[in-house]
Amino acid sequence: MKKMPNKVDVPSVKSVISKHEGKAGSLLSILEELQENDVHKHLSEEILMQVAQKAGIPLSQVYSVATFYSFFNLKPQGKHTIVVCRGTACHTRGSRALLLESAAQLGFTDFVEEDESALTTPDRKFTLRTVACFGQCALAPVVAVDGTIHSHVTPGKLLKLIQKIQKEESR
Ligand code: FES
Repeated sequence: MKKMPNKVDVPSVKSVISKHEGKAGSLLSILEELQENDVHKHLSEEILMQVAQKAGIPLSQVYSVATFYSFFNLKPQGKHTIVVCRGTACHTRGSRALLLESAAQLGFTDFVEEDESALTTPDRKFTLRTVACFGQCALAPVVAVDGTIHSHVTPGKLLKLIQKIQKEESR
């Protein structure tokens, strides 16, 4: 009989756990690696349950770590990520306009900053999120595009960056 493929790669969860088990901060490292391995860069409920079960850690503890650190995503992420800093230094140098400009360019027409900390386009090409501070306040306003920090960003500069990726994606 043909074996049904598993939706989640169980052996890889097991191997990630055994790679980090027993080391300081092992749960963080396990979750970090599993998120990195995930095609949509997130930790699904199923993965969190597997980690708890296979590592023998209470599910509540796994959840509290996954929800405490902002770099863990519990929802599927877009292929490209735009992170706009909304800390004080960046805010005073115009980061709200950057956020609104990005939201409009990505088609989040009814975007309300206070309601969402991250939004992903329906085609999962882009995720737009905010961060409290990158620790690069002298370079404000700061935006990270696919992990690359851009300093002294203007709405025009950010628009060009997004449009460039959109053009590449539409090819
Ligand atoms: S406030 Fe934006 S980098 Fe610190």
